[in-house]
Amino acid sequence: MTVAKKAVVAFLTTLCVLLLTPLAACGGNGGSPSGASGSASGVASAPAAGLISVGFSQVSVESDWRIANTASIKEALCEANGYQLIFKDAQQKLENQLEAVREFIAAAVDYIVIAPITETGWDEVLQEAQAADIPVILVGRMIDVSDDSLYTCWVGSDFFAEGSKAAKWMEQSLGSGPLNIVHIQGTLGSSAQIGRSAGLEEGLARNSNWQLVAQGTGDFSETNGRDFMERTLRQNLNINLIYCENDNMAFGAMEALDAARIPYGRSSDITLVSFDGTRRGLENTLAGRINLDVECNPLHGPRVAEIIQQMEKGLTPIKRSFMTEAAFEAATITQAQIDGRDY
Ligand code: AHR
Repeated sequence: MTVAKKAVVAFLTTLCVLLLTPLAACGGNGGSPSGASGSASGVASAPAAGLISVGFSQVSVESDWRIANTASIKEALCEANGYQLIFKDAQQKLENQLEAVREFIAAAVDYIVIAPITETGWDEVLQEAQAADIPVILVGRMIDVSDDSLYTCWVGSDFFAEGSKAAKWMEQSLGSGPLNIVHIQGTLGSSAQIGRSAGLEEGLARNSNWQLVAQGTGDFSETNGRDFMERTLRQNLNINLIYCENDNMAFGAMEALDAARIPYGRSSDITLVSFDGTRRGLENTLAGRINLDVECNPLHGPRVAEIIQQMEKGLTPIKRSFMTEAAFEAATITQAQIDGRDY
């Protein structure tokens, strides 16, 4: 960007940013999964000279993972590090995300960061960002667009690899007897749901002894996971395994099972598989209530800051980079692994 254009952008940002809700300080937390949604709290102020302005459209506060993700971005893109971060919570609605991105474009921010809710619906707004010459960095989930040049780069998870890891563990650990599976899916149309569901579907296709007895979405939230499990239990099905596409839905399912006094986990006939590997998830794995927790790494902040710094120097960042992720079994997890957890 030329010096003249930078000056115009700074002036416009000063005007427009007052209409938005910026996060001025460093170290802001990510909110609460049960708390009220909305824009992050923070003092509305124009960016100080020299700060890089970044608009960040986050999915919501639906899970522990999401809160850790928000905290990671806020910590990396804080004022002390040279950033003016404008944070918008989309409350799990795509239309809110599109509106936020349009507000960032109107504010002429230097960069737009998006944690997309669903894969589709992005072409038009990203064409507008491209026309405004604002780089777009995607975090977490992927998008499905007609033209890859509509976003600068992406950093996130291989959700299909996560699902495959779970399915392979099920094949290796649970033998060849009948396996009746309850599948609690995440937000339909999100790449986290699409990939993890595809991993299970491939396992179902390979193993004729596996059978899907119930399937539905819990939208990645604890409340919806619990409600889905309560409804499923009322059907009196024979259940051998619950495949929850994130930890919070697993916590909700566990609440429903506890209330119905149905045992699950390592010392029972009902196996619980979950995703995320959050601290709470791993504590439940160590306690034997979750049999397998496949990690999904939410700590995107440092990588996003690195990408922006590369671009500030005129470099082209890697188009797609995957987070490093592991899986934790109740049989082998240790307290030291939980103690070393950042989220
Ligand atoms: O996109 C990542 C998923 O979204 C995480 O598994 C989940 O907890 C979050 O809400």
